[in-house]
This record gives sequence, C-alpha cells and structure tokens, in this order.
Amino acid sequence: MVPHNDIGAAAQALREGKLVAFPTETVYGLGADATNGEAVARVYAAKGRPSFNPLIAHVPDATAAFALGDFSAEAKALAKAFWPGPLSLVVPRKENCPVSLLASAGLDSIAIRVPSHPMALDLLKATARPVVAPSANPSGKISPTTADHVRRHLKDKVAMVLDGGRCKVGVESTVVSFLEDGPKLLRHGGTPRPEIEKVLGHAIAVEAHSARPHAPGQLLSHYAPHAELRLNAEAPRAGEAYLGFGPLHAHGPWTLSATGDLVEAAASLFGLLHEIDSTGVARIAVAPIPHHGLGEAINDRLLRAAAPRDAT
Ligand code: TXA
Ligand code: MG
Repeated sequence: MVPHNDIGAAAQALREGKLVAFPTETVYGLGADATNGEAVARVYAAKGRPSFNPLIAHVPDATAAFALGDFSAEAKALAKAFWPGPLSLVVPRKENCPVSLLASAGLDSIAIRVPSHPMALDLLKATARPVVAPSANPSGKISPTTADHVRRHLKDKVAMVLDGGRCKVGVESTVVSFLEDGPKLLRHGGTPRPEIEKVLGHAIAVEAHSARPHAPGQLLSHYAPHAELRLNAEAPRAGEAYLGFGPLHAHGPWTLSATGDLVEAAASLFGLLHEIDSTGVARIAVAPIPHHGLGEAINDRLLRAAAPRDAT
C-alpha cells in the first residue's frame, strides 16, 4: 500500500497514465497526465460523463501556462493578479501545445489554471507535465471538498487519493475566456467577478448559464471537420474516407481502435478526425460505435460533428 500523501508516488502514477485524485483550494480534482490521450479518456470514463466536456490543464506556475497557450496582455494581467488561485483562463492553444486534443474536446482553445493548494503545487512540480483535473465526482453528483467524498464515489477508479484536508474555497474556479471576441466570464466561481473587473479596468461579458453547467458544450462552438460525416456506416461509399472501429480491413488506414477498445477510441477520436480532414476528402464515413461506457461520449461528439452546419 502506498501512503496517502506520497507526492513522489502520486507523480509517478500520473506519469504512468494512472488517475490520481488530489486536493485543490476549490474542490478535489481527478487528475491525469494531460499529454496522454488515453489517461484523459480514462478521466471521462471514471466520471461517467456522457459527453466530452473540455477539461482544465493544471500547471505549477504562469511560465508553464504560457508554454501551452497564447496569452493576451489582459489574460496575463489576470494571471499575475490571481495565480496561484481559483481562476481558469481559456486562451488559444499554442500550435505545439502538448496537451491531448481530447482534453480540449477538439477545440482550438485550452483552459489553464495554477491552483494555490500547496499539495496540488507540489504534485504538479513533481509530475512536470500539465495535469487535467475535473472535479473528482461522478457526473451529476456534487463536487467533493474532502478526500472522503472522493473515496466514497471514485475509490476503485483511481490509483491514489491524496488527502489535503477540507478545501478552503469549496466552489470551482471562475472560468474566463480570452478568444477573438474579448474576455468573457464562462463560469462563476472562486474568484469574484468584481475583482476581475477591477484588474481589467472594465466590465466583462457574462456567458455563464449556471455555476455548474450540465452541458457546457452548449456554450461552446464545436469542432466540426470540414468534411461531412456519415455515421453508423458499415463500409465507405465512393469518394468517402472510412474511420473504422475494430481491426483494419480493406477500408483504408484509419481505425479508432484496432482492438475495439473504447478508451483508445476516445483518445484517438479528435486527432484522427483532424488527420483525415487534412487529406481534403469531402466525406468521412464512421463505423458504428458501441453505445456503452465511453461509447456514449464518442457518439455524442460524432453526432455534434455530423449535425447540419447552419443549425449549430
Ligand atoms: O476549480 C476547478 O476548476 C476544479 C479544480 C479541480 O481545479 N476543476 C473543475 O474542472 O471544475 P471541470 O472539468 O469540472 O470544469 C471545467 C470547466 C467547464 O465548465 C468547462 O466547460 C470549462 O471549464 N472549459 C474547459 N476548457 C474550456 C474551453 N476550451 N473553452 C471553454 N470552456 C472550457
Ligand atoms: Mg465539475
């Protein structure tokens, strides 16, 4: 048995692709190596999320954050004022950003934060990789603010639960985006809006529908390939590229998982859609995906990507 608060062992587990629950000042997070697509997929599986919501990459300092995304002067000002602390900043991903596309749910933006809990900071420094960490509760349950809450629901799904006592803030971080259309508050949270506005020197648009949106995906513009998608296709038709599930047959070079593994399929989904899209093909036929486990989330994403463009 590993002692609960062995930070070195926890960092090692993360680097091996395992899940580690850890305390932050807001709520406990369900951590995974953000650069490992399969580890990220396991996070969605452990939470039982029916869709792939984009996750927050946690890093130990602003320098590590600036390596992942493009921060405007205003975004930098908020980072300087509130990090470490309960604020997540959504910025354009850097071209060479090592964070898995699944963690960004296929978006070209990324949410980043530097938590202030000392145990979280120690863990992030020791891991030396960005760590995605949604709140460590099963989807639909309330967010955990003690290690006990986490153990109650997710004990079997994680390699370790670090115990850092009760979370001081107790609500999730405030999420602010800095994309083309200026700063927007996407989620109310631990950093109050007036404090953010004081630093910016102006009011900020609010697009948060609730403190804990059930379908934050609805607030976002979604990645859709240029190619049209045809779902539940047993085989490609003329002019279509084929994205399979299971062993490769005669239908081209792409499969979400040769062994029919849904975790692997989730991890490769967005990357493969990008790759096939970059060939310039007009239509992608996608094999039927079993509708259990992560299959639900994969099918959710595929349906959105296949939806008529002028309706989204
Ligand atoms: O306090 C917190 O932020 C906690 C602790 C563990 O750090 N984490 C947390 O993660 O609440 P999660 O996954 O439960 O919430 C992430 C939020 C969601 O509302 C999601 O929509 C938003 O961040 N988000 C992440 N990436 C985004 C992106 N690229 N664009 C817009 N919103 C994004
Ligand atoms: Mg949550």
